[in-house]
Amino acid sequence: MPSKMWRVVDLLDWTARYFQQHGIRNPRLDAEVLLGHLLEKSRLQLYLHFEMPVFQEHLTPFRELIKKRIEHTPVSYLTNRKEFMSLDFYVDERVLVPRPETEQLVETILTTKTEDFQRLLELGTGSGVIATSLAVQQPEWEIVATDISDPALAVARKNAETHACATQIKFLSGDLFEPIEAISTNGNTRFDWIVCNPPYIKSTERDGLSRDVRDYEPDIALFAGDDGLTVIRRLIAEAPQYLAPDGKLIFEIGATQANAVRTLLDAESAYATYELFKDYAEKERIVLASVS
Ligand SMILES: C[S@@+](CC[C@H](N)C(=O)[O-])C[C@H]1O[C@@H](n2cnc3c(N)ncnc32)[C@H](O)[C@@H]1O
Repeated sequence: MPSKMWRVVDLLDWTARYFQQHGIRNPRLDAEVLLGHLLEKSRLQLYLHFEMPVFQEHLTPFRELIKKRIEHTPVSYLTNRKEFMSLDFYVDERVLVPRPETEQLVETILTTKTEDFQRLLELGTGSGVIATSLAVQQPEWEIVATDISDPALAVARKNAETHACATQIKFLSGDLFEPIEAISTNGNTRFDWIVCNPPYIKSTERDGLSRDVRDYEPDIALFAGDDGLTVIRRLIAEAPQYLAPDGKLIFEIGATQANAVRTLLDAESAYATYELFKDYAEKERIVLASVS
């Protein structure tokens, strides 16, 4: 970045061009988010302050952010922020960056629930966005959230504290249903809801992923064996023994996994019904299965 007197507008133009030259997918948006983060201004406020000069105290850290971004560090790891269900969450390299399509899991639960009180289990909570946004919307629910990654659980706890629901969510560490065996609330290991956004990428697809994902997000949050189904297969097989009568299992799948998942569900007699929901790109990405 050449030395000169920089205004917001020049800095955004220059950075967007530089990002584009380095193969960054949304160059202008990323430039705006990163500069806004540094100047503590929304993107709208940046536009309203286009002519404002930017001084050295901000130029130096901005250069650092630009350098990390062209190394493909995800924007959310640089700002430590991601919005989910209109709430602000802390994220860093310990957790997957929450994706907007995952909001559909939460929305489907909120529109399907029948009773005021529900016991809900989230497996693989990561940054805790699903458990926390449900807790904020449904303060009377009892929520248990697990993850096999202790570093991820530390982020999830921090987010639950920020949103004042840390006492409503019991966080447990362990492999899938294993920690549930250890805690039975009055002998009750059954839930009205089990929700999961599992890892579902084939390990053979690693090289085809964008560098932002492959080089920065945790492997444990992304990959699930050669066919991408190792966690989903166990989830479908094991969930019925942890579901209450009429209980529901809801989970996200990859864009090409719908038929394989139907085969797995058809083979599991415990499920009375199931449906697959399409995302906004018309791909079947959400599975809702109920026991009787
Ligand atoms: C795709 S991420 C989802 C994170 C978060 N729920 C979200 O939607 O953004 C999957 C999460 O599952 C966790 N995980 C992977 N394998 C697991 C297992 N066998 N048992 C429990 N958690 C697991 C990972 O550590 C990661 O946090």
